[in-house]
Amino acid sequence: PYPLYAELRRTPVVRDEAGPYLVSTYWEVRGLLHDPRISSDARNLTPEAAEATGQEQDPNLPPSFLRLDPPEHDRLRRLAMRPFGPPHTPRRVFEMHGELAGIVTGLIDDLRGRDSLDLVDDVSYPFPVTVICRILGVPREDETHFHEWADTIAAGLDPVGTAEERAAKMQAVQQARRDLAMYLAGLIEERRHAPRDDMLSALATEHGPDGQMSPVEMITTSVLLLIAGHETTVNLITNGMLTLLRHPDVLQRLRTEPDLAVPLVEELLRFEPPVQMLPQRTTLAEIEVAGTVIPKGASVYLMVASGNRDPQRFADPDRFVPDRPDNQHLGFGHGLHSCFGAPLARLEAQLALTELVRRLDAPQLVEDPPPYRQNAVLRGPRHLRLAIGG
Ligand code: HEM
Repeated sequence: PYPLYAELRRTPVVRDEAGPYLVSTYWEVRGLLHDPRISSDARNLTPEAAEATGQEQDPNLPPSFLRLDPPEHDRLRRLAMRPFGPPHTPRRVFEMHGELAGIVTGLIDDLRGRDSLDLVDDVSYPFPVTVICRILGVPREDETHFHEWADTIAAGLDPVGTAEERAAKMQAVQQARRDLAMYLAGLIEERRHAPRDDMLSALATEHGPDGQMSPVEMITTSVLLLIAGHETTVNLITNGMLTLLRHPDVLQRLRTEPDLAVPLVEELLRFEPPVQMLPQRTTLAEIEVAGTVIPKGASVYLMVASGNRDPQRFADPDRFVPDRPDNQHLGFGHGLHSCFGAPLARLEAQLALTELVRRLDAPQLVEDPPPYRQNAVLRGPRHLRLAIGG
């Protein structure tokens, strides 16, 4: 997609036929992510945008805080952060370091004796899924149920396709969302009666200065966390290993310099971001962006992956520079919706990549490019086959 983005950036704001406005340059995307005149609320989406991105309103299931504006967004994000995040996030994530390292090294060591692997099935997918299940308190054995629901919901994000395809997709997404909500509602109910040391129990039982989430809010929040913890980090790890294999000098450096993992993961989030665009914004007023007037009520796609390659912001943007200074990429978004799970996702990717290069002797790509998932929002290989010579 990157040559296409370069083409797009020649006009920072373009309208896609009669549809959405595409914003593709760094400063304009970042400015809009901080602009209160642009809404994330799913209930403000135009019917076309709602259908394109699988967000048609379900009367029984209000939006999660990802798709709400202040003040509702802020109240729910704060409540969700309490068990999970600041002021606890850095400490909590730091405390999990050993446990996370144990999970990923276990997965890699299980490959011993094999001469090939699929990085997605063997490491990139099971690692973050095991972690988010542990944090939430969702039994990992139930994955057979929710894997498919999570996949269907993620596929729904893709705004590309014919009208019939999109209508069918929206029905499937709604059903998957309802099934997943019912499943999590059952678990939350169990935890309310018998709390454990996990996040579902904390959501179900804790009270704070902001009160407590309503039962429906607990469900929409846990659906959000399970999906977000599922569909993104897998791509960061897979895109990361693919990029390292294409840059053997960097792979070799990481073997001997594990501290490189920190800036390297930031550069990956710039260079190959798992979330390529944010297609669910609507203008609440007329906004002028780089000389183009976007009217009130218009659907706007923020092309974050294109902003990450904007030469006005990043020197030599198409080059992978593992220790790039001043790397304020848009891979986790920016502003009030910026990624809630960023500290966890960063640590997972740093650990996975460091352990992969340390523990696999001479990994080799079997096909380049590998097969990609068909999704304009989420970028990552569906499979990444590697030869590892036993
Ligand atoms: C929001 C990317 C991992 C939870 C976001 C946004 C991006 C993003 C771009 C902004 C969306 C917007 O502005 O509309 C990523 C990437 C990840 C990742 C690239 C992995 C590499 C995670 C994980 C979790 C998570 C592991 C949960 C544990 C969330 C939540 C939001 C969010 C709850 C909504 C925040 C809000 O609306 O205030 N993420 N994410 N993410 N992410 Fe992540």
